[in-house]
Amino acid sequence: MSQHLEVVRTVAELRDRVANARSSGLRIGLVPTMGALHHGHLSLVDAISDKADLIVVSIFVNPTQFGEGEDFEAYPRDENSDLAKLSATAASLVYAPSVEEMYPAGDSTTIRVSGISERFEGMHRPGHFDGVATVVSKLLLHSAPDVAVFGEKDYQQLAVIRQFVKDLAIPSSIIGAPIVREADGLAASSRNVYLSEPAREIAGNLNVILTALVQEAKSGMELRACEEQAVKALLAAGFDDVDYVSIVDAQSLDTLSSLDRPARVLAVARLEKVRLLDNMAIEAP
Ligand code: PAJ
Repeated sequence: MSQHLEVVRTVAELRDRVANARSSGLRIGLVPTMGALHHGHLSLVDAISDKADLIVVSIFVNPTQFGEGEDFEAYPRDENSDLAKLSATAASLVYAPSVEEMYPAGDSTTIRVSGISERFEGMHRPGHFDGVATVVSKLLLHSAPDVAVFGEKDYQQLAVIRQFVKDLAIPSSIIGAPIVREADGLAASSRNVYLSEPAREIAGNLNVILTALVQEAKSGMELRACEEQAVKALLAAGFDDVDYVSIVDAQSLDTLSSLDRPARVLAVARLEKVRLLDNMAIEAP
């Protein structure tokens, strides 16, 4: 339980708190978020609570990772409710910078990860991962954590972050935390609130269809046929469109033709303009 949750809004204040903690021998943990916190986010705080003593949660709706026509303005923001939720966790510091603090006037640096960030979400949301990689680099440089945690909910995002952290030799360990789901198995997401009641019911089919795909793949069905069957099942269940269902190498995210190494199915289905992301591990049969 957090005794006292302090909120800082500048790089200087954050560095001051982190330096103090470090000089007392504390390990620093970072949990980056865009706010509108739900139990999926809070599980990330739990996931690093045994790896860090000072847990910093950042709340920043990052404009550079939203494309034209996406929901940057409409993205749910409620700092007071976020702080109330965090005060019941092991978090001890909230970093909630302004856009000007994160992107000072004249800012002209972008971190771009080629290859892994160009497929799937990168194809459907051009520039998205440049925004993510740039802001996460800044957050890691601002807080200099020993460890930072990201959800497997955004599986490709986690892979992109691991890549630039390795390439730039950023001295923070990156850990992934499992997907937290609602009662019907829908992956918790800040964007689920956009769904109407009937759409919310349909949304519950995504994880069921992916679970079936995982079983079919493990029982030897050809992988492209598994993907096609899942797409058909999603459309039949009432999703408006399917951006992709792909069985990939769990590390490189290259398309797989057989389950000869750790695999993952990545999927995005659309409903009422909401893109619902999900993914699951496929263990070798
Ligand atoms: P946001 O969507 O707020 O998510 C913050 C973190 O929570 C991410 O690491 C995400 O994967 C994780 N998360 C979200 N829903 C989850 C769930 N149901 N189960 C487990 N983890 C979940 O992802 C972002 O923000 C941004 O791109 C960010 C990394 C903060 C950079 O701006």
